[in-house]
Amino acid sequence: MLVCFLPYDILQFPDIFNLANGFSMRCLVVADLHYSLPQLDWLVSAAPQFDLVIFAGDALDIGSMVDFRAQIVVVKKYLTLLADTTRVILCSGNHDLDERNAEGEKISRWISEVRELGIACDGDDLTLGDTLFTVCPWWDGPMVKQRLADQLRDAAVSRPQRWIWVHHAPPANSPTSWGGKRFFGDVELVQWIMQYQPSMVISGHVHQSPFIPDGSWFDRLGQTWVFNTGLQPGRPPTHIVLDLDANKAFWLAAGEAQWIDLAAPLKRPACHVEEPPDWLTSLDRIVDPSLARPQAAAG
Ligand SMILES: [Fe+2]
Repeated sequence: MLVCFLPYDILQFPDIFNLANGFSMRCLVVADLHYSLPQLDWLVSAAPQFDLVIFAGDALDIGSMVDFRAQIVVVKKYLTLLADTTRVILCSGNHDLDERNAEGEKISRWISEVRELGIACDGDDLTLGDTLFTVCPWWDGPMVKQRLADQLRDAAVSRPQRWIWVHHAPPANSPTSWGGKRFFGDVELVQWIMQYQPSMVISGHVHQSPFIPDGSWFDRLGQTWVFNTGLQPGRPPTHIVLDLDANKAFWLAAGEAQWIDLAAPLKRPACHVEEPPDWLTSLDRIVDPSLARPQAAAG
């Protein structure tokens, strides 16, 4: 399914279209919030700084004590707030599957319903400026996998130079899918990356990869940059910022602020952020309500 939201975007989010420079594109990337309400609150507060929010799967948590149906209702409320603020992309992760299709494969029906909020979701292709975003569903069996393979094949026919996939699982045999003892990535995805060489693949899923020896939040397969945000508890969630105008990717985690140059070859380690850009300073100023002092204690 090819979906182009361009005229609607310019009307709803005029800031995304900069008459002097064409499209500006600063993307906030999160994944694996796993029904963390403090992290979802932070995401809503941070969203106005960005032209696009990419949520790369596992919005829900199958291990939560909260009923799955209640989680869906609550997360949809957050997504409504996000979609009222900026453009949003959401793909399903393995924790988001709430139904089986006719073939018996698990799918995320609730994520297909957020399309009516104006959110690009599983199976969609979204063009913003000169960039094509392909939103990939979590696949649990041969039918959904084939549908995804067809989606990538069809999108490849008229792909622009910058083609970005949002796919919950990172590729196999990459530091972005290293779990400490073995890789947890997607073998099929590696084949698709080698075949189509997209500009970037944005993932999550293997929570510990960015934080352990031999793991990383970034990698490069051929021409394709690959990212995994990682997961830490509490707020803010670990997040990646793609500044597509400056060709830089930033990774922000507790006590960490790193960046890489997307126009240069793969180089490790990443650089530490020495001079924070304005958007990063402003993210640091988002108030954490759980840390607010009671009125009587102030002063
Ligand atoms: Fe996850």
